[in-house]
Amino acid sequence: MKDTNRVMQSYGRCCASPDFFDDFYASFLASSPAIREKFVRTDMTAQKQLLRAGILNLVLFARGMPDTKLRALGKSHSREQLNIHPELYDLWIAALLKTIGQHDGELQQQDLQAWRTVLNKGIDVIKAAY
Ligand code: HEM
Repeated sequence: MKDTNRVMQSYGRCCASPDFFDDFYASFLASSPAIREKFVRTDMTAQKQLLRAGILNLVLFARGMPDTKLRALGKSHSREQLNIHPELYDLWIAALLKTIGQHDGELQQQDLQAWRTVLNKGIDVIKAAY
């Protein structure tokens, strides 16, 4: 099966799991004080909805959609705006893969590898705008 199809199916199972985004942010915020500091004034309920669409954009880009949305994310996360250092994306990926492991009851080893490939492709676009 294609990586992007594996990821779409796995993401569908994760989104159907009620605490997926809560658990992702709990894990992501716990991974570093530098991350917590960025979200002190954030409405986390709204942020969870934004992330739901943000992950979908990463998957759609890997499926061939133009990079317009990801370049806009790159701009908002760049040093002039949110100033999200490129190294922080490693913590983001680690927290996401851990949370997927907890919520996707049908996850196979190949799915995790597919997730890595798909996420990195889009994250490279975001980081390039830093
Ligand atoms: C805001 C997605 C990585 C910190 C946002 C928004 C989206 C988003 C959709 C809403 C505003 C906008 O569209 O710019 C993503 C995706 C990521 C990612 C898909 C991974 C590829 C990160 C990382 C950090 C971070 C690594 C590090 C701390 C923030 C902050 C905001 C934000 C601080 C603004 C929150 C506020 O409004 O208070 N992100 N993000 N993001 N993101 Fe990210």
